[in-house]
Amino acid sequence: MLVPFEVYVHVPFCARRCGYCDFNTYVAGPERHAAFVAHAIAEMELAAAELEGTPRASAQSVFFGGGTPTILPVEGLVELLEAVRRTFGVAPGGEVSAEANPDSVDAAYLEGLAAAGFTRVSFGMQSAVPWVLAALDRSHDPARLPDLVADARGAGLDVSVDLIYGTPGETLTDWEASVRAALDLGVDHVSAYALSLEEHTPMARRIRQGLLAPVDADEQAAKYVLADELFSSAGLGWYEISNWARPGHESMHNLGYWTGAEWWGIGPGAHSSLGARRFWNVKSPVAYADRLTGGASPVAGEETLDDAAVSLERIMLRSRTSQGLDLDDLSVEGRRTVPGLIADGLAQQRTGTANAKFVDGIVLTQRGRLLADLVTRTLAGW
Ligand SMILES: C[S@@+](CC[C@H](N)C(=O)[O-])C[C@H]1O[C@@H](n2cnc3c(N)ncnc32)[C@H](O)[C@@H]1O
Ligand code: SF4
Repeated sequence: MLVPFEVYVHVPFCARRCGYCDFNTYVAGPERHAAFVAHAIAEMELAAAELEGTPRASAQSVFFGGGTPTILPVEGLVELLEAVRRTFGVAPGGEVSAEANPDSVDAAYLEGLAAAGFTRVSFGMQSAVPWVLAALDRSHDPARLPDLVADARGAGLDVSVDLIYGTPGETLTDWEASVRAALDLGVDHVSAYALSLEEHTPMARRIRQGLLAPVDADEQAAKYVLADELFSSAGLGWYEISNWARPGHESMHNLGYWTGAEWWGIGPGAHSSLGARRFWNVKSPVAYADRLTGGASPVAGEETLDDAAVSLERIMLRSRTSQGLDLDDLSVEGRRTVPGLIADGLAQQRTGTANAKFVDGIVLTQRGRLLADLVTRTLAGW
């Protein structure tokens, strides 16, 4: 059977940079946006030529991330999707997602996406509390979200929102208001990320200078527990540490990353994974454009993982999901740590469907999800 295959397209532009974000994204004018579309298509053509003759499935999912993909005119995203269809192929019923900053789209834009075959949009909501959004340097008006979500659903798109918890000064009550606001939108999928303080960002600098309160780990944990409980009582179950969905609305693309799909990443800094081979593109959009203008590959580096590294990666990724880990994924030493993790309430047995008494794997408990790094290190025998 062919390994599932996915395509990621990284659009490296934003209208402005948020103070906490360390993603590979830049502020640039419309002429650079248009040139990016042409270069990304050139990269897809090179990739298709390289893959020709190798047995490979069409893409089960395509994900436009960033940056802010929707900073491109809708025609730009449509052209990119058509190029993905032409070069890699998209399986019938394939999932096609775009990330969107809420102030970068309107009803006509969302209809244009749906008409071209996009199936899903993910809005960067982050918070429903105006002062928290201001602390995050967000430019969008939270009051627009209900209409935008209704427009997206009206166009036939599945809708997800991203939330961030742990912004300096955010109280548990603020966070609860954001979680409840996300649920009130009626979305079928939510990603909730703990604020990660990235060293070279303006926010990290303001914390170092004492201008903002440092992030408190215990408070982050309390916010995770609150969100998990409110989401699951509203019918959105966790399927990955930071992702919750109504059954059937899980992101196929994200699940692919965690469960062993192969993927090709298009765009500056994008990473790809084919078998044991990992490769990544030049990070700078200028260097990326230069390479492709000259007909050269934008790949900047690559490595081939040995069996031990493949197995470690599998443990790290699969343990994040509600599908959990097969006991067969673990080494003999790793399997020996399982009873201790279960006794400590960090993992629980996963029972096989054929015979409910047959233990075939383990899944993290809520406490285990809060301490996922520790659990993974233990299972991997570090
Ligand atoms: C590419 S952005 C989504 C689309 C669009 N750029 C936006 O922000 O609205 C992906 C998501 O990553 C998350 N993110 C970015 N930087 C983060 C950080 N330092 N800590 C936690 N989450 C972060 C945000 O929730 C953001 O929505
Ligand atoms: S969070 Fe989104 S909008 Fe803000 S800088 Fe990062 S990618 Fe751009």
